[in-house]
Amino acid sequence: MQSIAEIYAIDCKKILGEIAMGEAAPRAAAAAVQLSRPQGSSRPAGSSIIDNEAELTDIVVAAMAGAPSPRMREVMEALVRHLHAFAREVKLTEAEYDLGIATLNRIGQATHDSHNEGILFADILGFSTLCCLLNNGNAGATETAAALLGPFWRMHSPRTENGGSILRSPTPGPALFVNCRVLDPTGAPIEGVEMDIWHASPVGYYENQDPQQADMNLRGKFLTDAQGRFSFRSVKPAGYPVPTDGPAGDVLRAQNRHPYRPAHVHFLGYREGFKTLVTQVFVDDDERLDSDAVFGVTEHLVGDYRLHESGTPPAPDVTAPWYTLDYTFVMEPGEAKLPTPPIK
Ligand SMILES: [Fe+2]
Repeated sequence: MQSIAEIYAIDCKKILGEIAMGEAAPRAAAAAVQLSRPQGSSRPAGSSIIDNEAELTDIVVAAMAGAPSPRMREVMEALVRHLHAFAREVKLTEAEYDLGIATLNRIGQATHDSHNEGILFADILGFSTLCCLLNNGNAGATETAAALLGPFWRMHSPRTENGGSILRSPTPGPALFVNCRVLDPTGAPIEGVEMDIWHASPVGYYENQDPQQADMNLRGKFLTDAQGRFSFRSVKPAGYPVPTDGPAGDVLRAQNRHPYRPAHVHFLGYREGFKTLVTQVFVDDDERLDSDAVFGVTEHLVGDYRLHESGTPPAPDVTAPWYTLDYTFVMEPGEAKLPTPPIK
């Protein structure tokens, strides 16, 4: 079986290949691109000899102008211009440059089959949420049900009957009964959505972090019925600290930031004809709802986790208190595409 590192290597090659080949101008045309020199330079066109700091950025951008794909040229030119502007703005020292490179290297070294430091680092910078908001909800113009994937999704969670439990091993905590609907933007129910669920335990650990939990505990995959409904039983999750033993933890400590996420349940909805919905629904009474370490909370994603202290429990083995969550998701028309799993 491929390791996650191998899957990433393949994905990166594939994506880079698609960017390079997609919308490609003929390679012959690209070969004919003349590298330009910054205005006022006495060097011949195509020379990359650097005469001063001020002209470096334009020379680097010119060196990349032969990429056949317009999109690759656009993305890489912007990356270089912003990266250079960043260094100039803060007057980056050599020691800080060394620290930055070491941090990038450590992010890679800390990533393995059961942990993804790259996603975590993007999360604590708000970068994951920014990309999510830019690509959902009418390109960021309107409210969206989407949220960042986070580092804990696993691809093959167990298929579970509607109404079934996702407890795979004894997991003490208040019972939680979740009833959801999935609608299209006109309000019509969507049948046949595969809805993947995962969340942390009532003490704040995902099963892959916790030897006390069975494999795939608090994970399950459901199919919406003709009314777009799916439901399941679980236990109320707790908030948890993101892993702090790598570079992301160093940054949080250096900035006097706590590492906690407010409690939430993750959802991933997949059906042909609809943009894959990746989201989280947050527990409304969590003390850290206003200070998520990874900036994932939007008003739309705060759930009504209703406490029941009396009455007839929803199952015979349940005693008060228990919680219910009713929530409606809207999926936008678009491409059904599963993300690369951050962990195995
Ligand atoms: Fe999470």
